[in-house]
Amino acid sequence: MYTSRIAGFYKLGVDERAKIVKELAGLTDDELNLLKTSKIGLSIADRMIENVIGTLELPLGIATNFLINGKDYLIPMAIEEPSVVAAASNAARMCREGGGLHAFSAEPLMISQIQLVGVTSPHTAAVKVLQNKDEILRIANEKDPVLNSLGGGAKDLEVRVVQSPVGPMVVTHLIVDVKDAMGANVVNTMAEAVAPFIENLTGGKVLLRIVSNLADKRLVRVWTKVPKDVVGGAEVVDGIVYAWALAASDPYRAATHNKGIMNGVVAVGLATGQDIRALEAGAHAYAARFGRYAALSTWEKDEEGDLIGYLEMPMAVGVVGGATRVNPIAKISLKILGVKTAKELAEVMGSVGLAQNLAALRALVSEGIQKGHMKLHARQIAISVGAQGEEVDKVVSEMIRDGIIRIDRAKEILSRLRTGY
Ligand code: MEV
Repeated sequence: MYTSRIAGFYKLGVDERAKIVKELAGLTDDELNLLKTSKIGLSIADRMIENVIGTLELPLGIATNFLINGKDYLIPMAIEEPSVVAAASNAARMCREGGGLHAFSAEPLMISQIQLVGVTSPHTAAVKVLQNKDEILRIANEKDPVLNSLGGGAKDLEVRVVQSPVGPMVVTHLIVDVKDAMGANVVNTMAEAVAPFIENLTGGKVLLRIVSNLADKRLVRVWTKVPKDVVGGAEVVDGIVYAWALAASDPYRAATHNKGIMNGVVAVGLATGQDIRALEAGAHAYAARFGRYAALSTWEKDEEGDLIGYLEMPMAVGVVGGATRVNPIAKISLKILGVKTAKELAEVMGSVGLAQNLAALRALVSEGIQKGHMKLHARQIAISVGAQGEEVDKVVSEMIRDGIIRIDRAKEILSRLRTGY
């Protein structure tokens, strides 16, 4: 009988779990084998999450041409969407002509929230918490001597009285320098550690003790200059500024504009084992920080008529701990990138985001986005019908020339190429 109530599923081994799912879902032997064909290894996967039955692969591509703060980078990107890697490489080439991308990131400060409820006088409670800042920081720092020895740890405290639908509550922010980690684990541990002290101090009750993904103290800032002739001329520069202006004014466009930025950020994040949900949450919350959702980047024209792009967004990433430590592919990606610190990784990811944004806007205001997509789509079709080597380009260019991109057409062209008719 088909049921999702499987007692003790978590206690089984990967093989046994996979067998149960195979039976319930009617998978074939081939499907089962594919599920279990894993590059990172099922035992590693089984230690990363629960109830594992296999792993899922994504294509890993390398974006080229990136010059960031005067240093060249090969950028690993994991993504299912065609065009993204090519677009990033192409935009990076354009940025390179203007001196590359310039990025600088703030100190890796994460925020942990401690929610205090049930106090009759919230402002008095807030003052008490603030007055005991040194003791609270001391308790927090006891939790991570290693981070302290590296110069990190809980550094500051902010307290707000938040008006909520069920009354005021006192929200303490622990500000923690997490150095090269993404930092969620360490700040959560510290928040839990200081909670009893805050309760004793105020007579209230602590509920939530958790990181805030609105990591607005851990911002990355990136700018670039693209000479007008490189981007396609004065008209394209004006077009990009108009495209940005819509994203700055209209949340419907801003969502898509920012999605284009996240195409780059998330692809590098996935390749290097980052918590991409945290990155998305932080980015979109930051985009709405003024009360209306808006673009994360800005595009303008300078006195010479060249294009200047600027991006500012939270970038909570790590090069130690988390999946970066256990996922061997993430480790290889970090090695290819050659980044040494979380700050440097943040700068690279912000740069990829800005380049990706440039590529999208340029395509949208010139030939449109579909042309590039169609070419890749045509390539996929040519390969799927068995075209090899030079045949691929020939089949693709004929299909594009005739504007007919279909399997039957690809087969026909290929057989003509092979038979000479
Ligand atoms: C597609 O994945 C991303 C774009 O829609 C971004 C944009 O419109 O700026 C092309």
